[in-house]
Amino acid sequence: MTIPTQLSEKLLAALQSVLGENLPQGFAPAVTPSQDLRFGDYQSNAAMVLAKQVRTNPRALATQVVEAFGDSELATLEIAGPGFINFRVRPEFFAGKAAAMLSDERLGVAVTAQPKTLVIDFSAPNVAKPMHVGHIRSTIIGDTLARISRFMGHTVITDNHIGDWGTQFGMILWGWKNILDAAELEKDPIEALLSVYKTVNTKCKEDEALLPICKAELVKLQSGDPENLDIWKRCIEVTKIGLEKIYAQLNISFDYWLGESAYNDALAPLVDDLIAKGIARESEGAICVFSDGFHKPQNDPFLVQKNGEWVPVPAIIRKADGGFLYATTDLATLDYRTQNFNADSIWYVVGAPQDKHFKQIFDIERMRGVTGDFRHVAFGSILGKDRRPFKTRSGDTVSLQDVIDEAVARATKVVEEKSPDMPADEKTRVAQIVGVGAIKFAELSQNRMSDYIFDWDKMLSLSGDTAPYLQNSYVRVRSIFRKIEGAFIAPAELTLSQDAEIHLARMLVRFAEVVPATLDDCRPNLLAAYLYDLARAFHSFYEACPVLKSEGAVRESRLALCELTARVLKQGMGLFGIEMPERM
Ligand code: ARG
Repeated sequence: MTIPTQLSEKLLAALQSVLGENLPQGFAPAVTPSQDLRFGDYQSNAAMVLAKQVRTNPRALATQVVEAFGDSELATLEIAGPGFINFRVRPEFFAGKAAAMLSDERLGVAVTAQPKTLVIDFSAPNVAKPMHVGHIRSTIIGDTLARISRFMGHTVITDNHIGDWGTQFGMILWGWKNILDAAELEKDPIEALLSVYKTVNTKCKEDEALLPICKAELVKLQSGDPENLDIWKRCIEVTKIGLEKIYAQLNISFDYWLGESAYNDALAPLVDDLIAKGIARESEGAICVFSDGFHKPQNDPFLVQKNGEWVPVPAIIRKADGGFLYATTDLATLDYRTQNFNADSIWYVVGAPQDKHFKQIFDIERMRGVTGDFRHVAFGSILGKDRRPFKTRSGDTVSLQDVIDEAVARATKVVEEKSPDMPADEKTRVAQIVGVGAIKFAELSQNRMSDYIFDWDKMLSLSGDTAPYLQNSYVRVRSIFRKIEGAFIAPAELTLSQDAEIHLARMLVRFAEVVPATLDDCRPNLLAAYLYDLARAFHSFYEACPVLKSEGAVRESRLALCELTARVLKQGMGLFGIEMPERM
């Protein structure tokens, strides 16, 4: 049990004894970390909330509650301001919790009490279109959420819902037949297909006659023409091979690759069913879902305000020409996931511009009576230093492969400067870990909803909240253990007396609270901020408290704090899919 849970339980008992019958049924007092340690470790506004409900003075109620809480080996209590209760956890309690972590593989993090089956939809690039830095966000956030959810004991299914059935195939098919460079395709399939797409796109603009020819290729594909189907399949195959290479460098994998095309056969019956149920109807030849008036207009995803009036924005699920759309596929995909994977929850890690799309999809599910925890885990954009969308010098979108290559090249320099004597193959391996780690951490330390500036120097810096800083901290801790004789034996108890020791223990113990909290609203940046704080706490401790030169129980305890720091850093970064080198 985490410390705030323990405090909350004890606080509830105190409230019960003070308020008796007047305590509202099911009341759970919130205990949250204090912003400022001078006011203790945690605080609760429970007395203020309840005083309002039972009409009494909040400070007076707080005083009674603190009295009822009594002397506790957990914490000392104080009343502040209008009736906050502040808790200062006793150092011995931190020491006890930290000692318990030493023999716990999970480092205090309890498995969830409500395991769910969770589908996480992330990355999902489009075939023959570039996988660009924008996909970084989805790929890295999605992978992390999957790792954390698994660690918490959920059943997690990761699904790469690639865009493998879009209108781009009209141009690709024509290009494949007329301009494709087979050698280039062998070498770099993603780039080759992309360049075909770009070339045909330009040609279409120059030559008006070409676009209808490409469209005809698309229609042939959609109606099952064997040659076009064959080419289409080859496109998907080579793209997958190219993508797998990138994912391998990022140490990311998927349980399924059920792209859009996997749902082709489900689309027509789905639309028929929605019509039969009266959820969808014809409008100007197309089949659409309109608002059913369930929500207030402000919250209705099928309405927008124009000139002071609410006007309908239906979800189109079949075009007048019979074609199906992104929304249709997503409805079919959701069906598949709830029925075949038995998903309780589906998380879509997709950029914020698709907000409306997902709101509509989830609302159509409500109309159909399909329930579940469906979330659009949205995120903002990546910007260049000029605060405009991140582009190459020539104005192209930056490919993910280029980003990885550049990160590793820069990390190589960092490693070379730090450890010139390291063997070459180790240097290569460490540079890979540091470079990829830097990209991931730069992403995960952001609030996902805000836009962030892609800054090479900052993300590879050895100071500040970066992967290299945390990796270097880990390396420093590990180097302590290389200097001791014999194996480290964990003591049964910790003796902590210095502020820096107590603070490090406080931070270590907090790991158990932070990991589950990241899933509440899918915010990995909480964990990133925590790991940075932990590393800083370690450095302050290491400056203030000699480890190897200390003796007896003090030395044992300090070594134990070092050991736990290394383990929490490694485990925490592991949840981000970031590896820790032993040296760098
Ligand atoms: N392929 C889409 C894109 O690149 C993302 C798909 C996200 N997943 C989904 N089920 N819609 O924008």
